[in-house]
Amino acid sequence: MKIAIDGPAGSGKSTIARMIAENLGYLYINSGNLYRAVAYLAIQEGTPWQNAPRMIDLMKRHHFDYHPDGSVVVDGVPLLKELRGSDVDAIVSQVSAIPEIRHGVNEIIRQIAVSKDVVSEGRDITTVVFPDAELKLYLDASTQVRAQRRYEEKLNERLTSSVTASDSQRLSIDEIKNNIEMRDKLDKEKTVGALKIAQDAVYLDTSDLTIAQVYEKVYKILMVRIAHGRK
Ligand code: DC
Repeated sequence: MKIAIDGPAGSGKSTIARMIAENLGYLYINSGNLYRAVAYLAIQEGTPWQNAPRMIDLMKRHHFDYHPDGSVVVDGVPLLKELRGSDVDAIVSQVSAIPEIRHGVNEIIRQIAVSKDVVSEGRDITTVVFPDAELKLYLDASTQVRAQRRYEEKLNERLTSSVTASDSQRLSIDEIKNNIEMRDKLDKEKTVGALKIAQDAVYLDTSDLTIAQVYEKVYKILMVRIAHGRK
């Protein structure tokens, strides 16, 4: 079974996808982290994201593997915390707008998912990557709520000392909100793989819901789909 979840940053899709995967024993695929890994490498190597041919070359020069905990293993080196920095946040949307990069990431995801039960989340999973998914969800929330969630997430990361000093100094809710708004706009206006609500997706606004409430709703929908699938 394939479960596809799309939605903007901070809509709760990673948390919910991970919970489903853990409880049902499905493979969790965080597609955003693959785009983040490409953006991270570009920063490390000094490759300007504006230079599409060099970005495409960068992706070809490295080997990308995916680990079920969400980390991306690049040439044998696992990356996870490195992918959440504000430097990556600032360019990842632009990187993910390069059609060849999208093509490369989609291939990686489809390869990982072959003959497996998966729950995958991102921006175009319901529309492009797995258009035949048995369950499609679109999670949404107000910009303010999403910024607040990301702020708290980053505060937690800081407490567990996963971010650099320069990152923690830059932590401000207004900046996070601005970054989310910028990424929303870019993600929705991409020529390829734009964020949109699939016609057959279940739409859930999570603004006023706790994680447990969202999970309960999703779980009920999922159980109905599974029961239908067995008929
Ligand atoms: O889910 P996230 O915020 O970690 O994703 C990082 C960026 O990657 C986001 O700005 C949009 C892009 N992305 C995408 O274009 N398509 C996907 N399937 C997943 C993420």
